Amino acid sequence: MSPDPTARAVPAEWWRSAVFYQVYIRSFADGNGDGVGDLAGIRSRLPYLTELGVDALWITPFYPSPMADHGYDVADPRDVEPVFGDLAEFDALLADAHTRGLRVTVDLVPNHSSDRHEWFRTALAAAPGSPERARYLFRDGRGPDGSEPPNNWPSVFGGPAWTRVPDGQWYLHLFAPEQPDLDFANPDVVADLDRTMRFWLDRGVDGFRIDVAHGMAKPDGLPDMLPMEDTGLLADHGVGDHRFDQDGVHAVHRRIRGVLDEYEDRMAVGEVWVSDDDRLAQYLREDELQLAFNFKLLTAEWTADELRDAIIHSLSTVSGTPAPACWVLSNHDRPRHVTRYGGGELGLRRARAAALLQLALPGAVYLYNGDELGLPNVDDLPEEALQDPVWERSGRTKRGRDGCRVPMPWSGTRPSYGFSSSPDTWLPMPLDWAGLTVEAQSSDPASIQSLYRAALALRSGSPAFAGEELQWLPAPEGCLAFRRPGGLVCLLNLTDAPVPLPEGRVLLASSDLGGGTVPADSAVWLQA
Ligand code: NOJ
Repeated sequence: MSPDPTARAVPAEWWRSAVFYQVYIRSFADGNGDGVGDLAGIRSRLPYLTELGVDALWITPFYPSPMADHGYDVADPRDVEPVFGDLAEFDALLADAHTRGLRVTVDLVPNHSSDRHEWFRTALAAAPGSPERARYLFRDGRGPDGSEPPNNWPSVFGGPAWTRVPDGQWYLHLFAPEQPDLDFANPDVVADLDRTMRFWLDRGVDGFRIDVAHGMAKPDGLPDMLPMEDTGLLADHGVGDHRFDQDGVHAVHRRIRGVLDEYEDRMAVGEVWVSDDDRLAQYLREDELQLAFNFKLLTAEWTADELRDAIIHSLSTVSGTPAPACWVLSNHDRPRHVTRYGGGELGLRRARAAALLQLALPGAVYLYNGDELGLPNVDDLPEEALQDPVWERSGRTKRGRDGCRVPMPWSGTRPSYGFSSSPDTWLPMPLDWAGLTVEAQSSDPASIQSLYRAALALRSGSPAFAGEELQWLPAPEGCLAFRRPGGLVCLLNLTDAPVPLPEGRVLLASSDLGGGTVPADSAVWLQA
C-alpha cells in the first residue's frame, strides 16, 4: 500500500541533498506546560522550521517508554508516549508539516526494547528455553554455578552487558539493563519490525533514522570480544568487538529496505558507528540503507588535516555506492560543537565557519536542534539534575549526554525562555541564555541564526550548489578549499591569521571579510 501523504510535488530521491533537522523531542518545544517537549510543541514551531529553510525533520523517539534512556527504551513501538501527545497529535503534526513542504522522519529502535515491553515481561515470567525467552538473548551463566556472565561483553553505558534474572539465567543488553537486546534470528522479531515500519509508513512518514543500525545481528555462540580500551557509546566498534557490525546485520537491512521500497519516496538513514570505509560502505549497497551518518566530521578536531581527512574518507566511503555522503556536526549523544571547538567566542566563531563547511559539502546534511543558535554544551548542570543512564552506570564518573540536551531557548530573558509555560524544565536551563534565544537572534543580521538562514536559502536556491562532486583546490597552509561543479567555492581558514580571499563573487561569509582577506577561523562561499 502506498498512501498519498499530500499533493506534494516529489522530486526524485529528495533526501540526496536534503537538510534534515534533528528534533530531540524532550528539548525542542513544550506544548502542554509540563517542562518536557512534545509533539504539540513541534507542531507550534513548524513556521520557524520552514523559515529557517530545512527540508525534513528527524524526530527522536516519542513512543511509550519508561524513559530509562529517554525514549530509546521503547515499550510499544506503535503508539505515542502520553508525555509527548497521542496518535491524533502525531497525525496532525505530520499533516501540517507536509502542507508546509516539510518531510518527517522518525526514529526506529530495532536493536532492543524496553524491559517493560510486553514481550520482555512475558519472557521473564516464562521458563528458560521457552519461545517467549527466545525473542531476546537469554543464556546460562559461566562458572560452576552459572554466576558469571555468559561472556565478557561490556554495556556501552558501563558495567557488564548481562543482567541475571531470579531463575539464574542472564539476558543481554548492549545498553542499559532496561534495554534488553532482541534476537534478530527469531522470525517474530523480524516480523514485528516490518509491522512497526508499515504502521508509520501507512500514516505517511517519509522515512526512518535507524538506531544502532550496526547492532541487531549477534555472532553465533556469543564469543568473548577482544579486550579494548574504549567500548563505550561512541567507540570505534571495529574488528574484535563482536557486539556490533556482524555480517548478519545486512540481511536485516535488506529486509528493512524491502519494506521501504513498497512505498514511494521513503528513506532510511542509519546510525552506523563503523569507521572502516569499506565496512561502512556495505551498509549503503543498493538494497540496504539510503544514507548512513557520517560521524567522521563530528569526531574530527578543528584542524585542516583532520577535517580534510574526514571529508576524503566520507566521500570515498560512498563513492562506490548509490548513496550520497551525509554530514553531521552534533547530535544528542555528543558534546555540542561550539564547545568541542573551544567554547565561548572562539567556539562560536568556529561553529559559524563549520556551518558553512557542512552546508557546502555535497550530500545530505543533519542539523541538531540548537546548532542554528550556536548553543554551547551545558557542562555545569548540577549533579542532582543529571538524568543520562551513563551517569549512574559509570559509577558517577561520566556525566553523560545531558549537557547537549538542554531545552531550546525561544524568547524572553529568563528560563524557560519560551520553551515551556513552566519555568521548570526537565533539565535546567542556564541563566545567561537570553542573548541566544530564537527571538533575540532572528532580528540580528549578525547572529548565527541569520547566517544559517542565509546559508540554507543559498544552498537550496543557488545553481552554484549543483553536482555531487567535490574538487579540492590549492589552499594556504592550515586552510581547506574546494569547488562544486555548479561553481561554488568554499574556503575555510583554520589558522589564526587572515588569508587572501580567493577569486570570485562572495556569496556568504562567516565573519566580516576585512580588506580582501578571510579572517582566522572563518569560512567564505564564492561563486567562481
Ligand atoms: C543511539 C542513540 O542515539 C542513543 O541516544 C541511545 O542511547 C542508544 N542508541 C541506545 O538506543
